[in-house]
Amino acid sequence: MTQTILVTGGAGYIGSHTVLALLERGDDVVVVDNLSNSSKKSLETVERLSGKSVVFVEADLTEAGSLDEVFTKFPITSVIHFAGLKAVGESVEEPVRYYRTNLMSTLNLMAAMAAAGVWDLVFSSSATVYGDPETLPIPEDAPLRTTNPYGATKLMIEDICREVAKSDSRWQITLLRYFNPVGAHESGDMGEDPLGIPNNLVPFVMQVAVGRREKVNVFGNNYDTADGTGVRDYIHVVDLAAGHLAALDNLIAGCRAINLGTGNGASVLDVIATTAAVSGVKINYEIADRRAGDIATSLADPSRAHAELDWRADRNLETMLTDSWRWQSRHPNGYD
Ligand code: UD1
Repeated sequence: MTQTILVTGGAGYIGSHTVLALLERGDDVVVVDNLSNSSKKSLETVERLSGKSVVFVEADLTEAGSLDEVFTKFPITSVIHFAGLKAVGESVEEPVRYYRTNLMSTLNLMAAMAAAGVWDLVFSSSATVYGDPETLPIPEDAPLRTTNPYGATKLMIEDICREVAKSDSRWQITLLRYFNPVGAHESGDMGEDPLGIPNNLVPFVMQVAVGRREKVNVFGNNYDTADGTGVRDYIHVVDLAAGHLAALDNLIAGCRAINLGTGNGASVLDVIATTAAVSGVKINYEIADRRAGDIATSLADPSRAHAELDWRADRNLETMLTDSWRWQSRHPNGYD
């Protein structure tokens, strides 16, 4: 049976890769996006690669009623909710905008879903909800705490979902806690296209590799890790997209959280060295001060996703960075 999936934020980095995977397996997709940090060109690429069309609705979910027409016009069966603001530093400068945007859009979405009788929801959460973890690798039942407004919005939305699911047993919600999404579609024509100076390591390293920036600042080399630089669980965006399909296929009553990560860690210096190896470009870097709020190590315990979703991430760091490099070198200025 063909399903129609509503994907909020479907023009963005993770959203567009997930939309492509849905179309490729035969689902119909309706994307709602306000294009505040994404380009419609990502969806044109999705259509070209899949040979299928996507319904695109430009709308701002923070406006009440913005989804009414979507639910009456299309036979939506479930929702993947990516839309939201996601820059940690910006959230510290503009907390009101972050709380308003991320919370209002989710509340409006859930109200519209309930009104339309759609109860199946997959939400983009983040490993940021674990704060500075006590246990590594991090299981889903680790304590939850956040250190910035962006992270707080993710945790608040998780709490809202847990309470909403308790209030009505028809809800089936899965909260996906992503570790560090990187990589790009293997075509080299879809990838991450950050606005302005990238905050995240891999887009920054790629812009250095392609000559848009001079050097990488390594934020601290005195952490308690093997080489002193921060260790993260990088996950290929195509594996992450597949995780969303697995989550949709395995929704169960109530609300549960599932980590999407590989369980393997890579340091900042590993990322720089592997990028140099796959691109053949020397990556200049300099050791700089620690970035406020950073932690030494973040690593997923991905066993729940293996057991409950029958999903695992199988692309390694070299594949992730090879694919990021293909995208960046073919599209040095992103979608523009
Ligand atoms: C960041 C966010 C996290 C968010 C995630 C999305 C912070 C504090 N956390 O995670 O909430 O969910 O992005 O992907 O921003 N690094 C450098 N130089 C750089 C950039 C980063 O050395 O120019 C280092 C960082 O110190 C860290 C590692 O690279 O050790 C990864 O950083 P980043 O890509 O920003 O991800 P996170 O900080 O893990």
